[in-house]
Amino acid sequence: MILKKIRLNKKILKNRIIASPMCQYSSPKGCPENWHYYHYGNLINSGIGMMMIESTAVNLNARITLNDLVLSKRKDLDLYNKFITYLKSINDIPIGIQLSHAGRKGSSQIPWIKSNSPLKKNKWATFAPSPIARDKNWPKPKELNLEQIDKIKNDFVSAAVLAKKAGFDCVEVHMAHGYLLHQFLSPISNKRNDRYGGNFENRIRLAVEIVKAIKLRCKNIIIGARVTGSDRLKYGININESIKFIHKLEKLKIDYVCISSGGIYPKTNLKIKKGYNVDLARKIKQKTKLKIRVSGSIQDINYGNNLIKNKNADLIAFGRTLLSDPNFIYKINKEYIPNQYKRAFT
Ligand SMILES: Cc1cc2nc3c(=O)[nH]c(=O)nc-3n(C[C@H](O)[C@H](O)[C@H](O)COP(=O)(O)O)c2cc1C
Repeated sequence: MILKKIRLNKKILKNRIIASPMCQYSSPKGCPENWHYYHYGNLINSGIGMMMIESTAVNLNARITLNDLVLSKRKDLDLYNKFITYLKSINDIPIGIQLSHAGRKGSSQIPWIKSNSPLKKNKWATFAPSPIARDKNWPKPKELNLEQIDKIKNDFVSAAVLAKKAGFDCVEVHMAHGYLLHQFLSPISNKRNDRYGGNFENRIRLAVEIVKAIKLRCKNIIIGARVTGSDRLKYGININESIKFIHKLEKLKIDYVCISSGGIYPKTNLKIKKGYNVDLARKIKQKTKLKIRVSGSIQDINYGNNLIKNKNADLIAFGRTLLSDPNFIYKINKEYIPNQYKRAFT
């Protein structure tokens, strides 16, 4: 099953194995660097059916760290286009980009320098739906006003339009992992009392408006969203609310959702164990016709295959396993081994 083709919008994926988006924090100028050519150049030939490029900020204030990818200026289009052309010359499979705004999680130190830590030098002011810090040692973000919210919406749409022009086949809106859109969606971080806060309809408004506008401006590309199946906290987003939200996204005719969880605070009740998001993905898949992607300690193809066979998900994303064992898919299907490498696998 996992090796069976699947259609997303107008694209056919040769299998259901996806490279999960993974920040590289390696773009001091905001653009793809040699590291990206090396890293994604390897990933794209690993046997995956589709590759997601890491969380990419929709403006400078939207960055998680100083070294995030950013897609906000027309002048950067050539560099992104060159990058995509290079990757497609190695293996012409669909490539997606994840668009994000870090909100109160921005101005962070690069995790391998110090994890879960705000920048001390070269920091910038962060913004969020409400002035609630992410954790004890984090600065209080400024509350966004309506004009600023509108600008962020436009920045998501402009980034999506640029992504399409650069040659990406898919745009994924990041609405999970405690970043800005998740901060709007979750009652834990959104205490506004205007049209962007309070009840469910108001909390989902910004995410819905962004998807609607992207759908309008970017025809014929795959549009997905990474969403929170549950905040895994008593007063947070729960599975029922998440299903309600996913029904809204389904009505907007997006192509898939990737189910994640936790992240609104550094510590939640999320337990990292084998297939830790599968419980949510399964429940959501039963209630929607949207294609469901899942990841989270799914470390082998057989397990992923069973998840698809048993209708827990349609697409399986692999993150860390692709980094630690980049050839693991070759062992399952020799067809994916590049000719140049075949003698190593006989
Ligand atoms: C180095 C690294 C960077 C990550 N960056 C992102 C990211 O940019 N966007 C995102 O949605 N998730 C990100 N994640 C989460 C992964 O996409 C994935 O969901 C998570 O690692 C669980 O899958 P795994 O157990 O297969 O690694 C990152 C994970 C790692 C390990």
